[in-house]
Amino acid sequence: MTDTSRTPASPPTLAVIGAGSVGATIAYAALVRGTARHVVLHDVNAAKVEAEVLDLNHGLAFTPMGQVEGSDDVEVCRGARVVVVTAGAKQQPGQNRMELAESTLNLTRTLMPRLVEVAPDATYVMVTNPVDVVTTAALKVTGLPANQLFGSGTVLDSSRLRHAIATRLGVAVTSVHANVVGEHGDTEFPLWSSASVGGVPLLEWDALHGGLDETTREEIAEDVMRSAYRIIAGKGATNYAVGLAVCRIVESVLRAEHAVLPVSTWLDDYRGISDVSLSVPTVVDHRGAGERLLVPMTDEEIGLLRRSADSIRATARRFGF
Ligand code: LAC
Repeated sequence: MTDTSRTPASPPTLAVIGAGSVGATIAYAALVRGTARHVVLHDVNAAKVEAEVLDLNHGLAFTPMGQVEGSDDVEVCRGARVVVVTAGAKQQPGQNRMELAESTLNLTRTLMPRLVEVAPDATYVMVTNPVDVVTTAALKVTGLPANQLFGSGTVLDSSRLRHAIATRLGVAVTSVHANVVGEHGDTEFPLWSSASVGGVPLLEWDALHGGLDETTREEIAEDVMRSAYRIIAGKGATNYAVGLAVCRIVESVLRAEHAVLPVSTWLDDYRGISDVSLSVPTVVDHRGAGERLLVPMTDEEIGLLRRSADSIRATARRFGF
């Protein structure tokens, strides 16, 4: 007789793996935004997952109709439609995300097959850092197709870039169209050549309106890339923005929105780049990661994308992926 106390009565819409600050915030944001009605949380720390689920349930009276369950048994994820994976080592102050690779990839090797066993048809969104390396490894460990498993990538970095530009130019964040691409990490970079505000290309903004010369753009890019380091130094972890960014991705899957998001996807001859997962603007829908858009890029930007790919691929290969 299956222990029904661990297997939800109906399959969950969203399963979040890892009840640390990122995972718990994703679950919270999903309930507040109405991203998913039935959320489950899984963590090997039974006390932690029970406490997070209790605390989340106590807020359900104030959110769109929702249901939250959790367990230290992966069985709680059975039949999930989307699985978000946050479990892994935590970035310490001053630590580079790539330095987390060894411990996180060992976890990927053991965790992913167990998840695919209980949720073989789920769309998988990897969040664990170094997310591009973890996504590359998880694809190889599970053998899932490249649309079904992808990473949160630089969706978060792009929201940081959009905020920085909006603040500098005095416009709404939602009016800024700009992407960070490549690694979610030190080799990421803004695609300035395709960024715009209100139809004004940002590379022309300074000549037309002032306030966004090359030095300013370089300062913005550096601030965006170093954001996590600053936040971790101050509060020990990042969680709010990444939680919201991941919910945005999950919503595009669950609602088949076809939103174009810079998620970390497996590339096969994207501008000559192959055998690596990194972020380029990608159509995200019910099938997961779809078309990788061939955004116009300068030769310099293509070179930076290749540098990012080389960095991710080198780390993946160092650990056998
Ligand atoms: C950050 C983490 C999620 O950039 O890598 O905040």
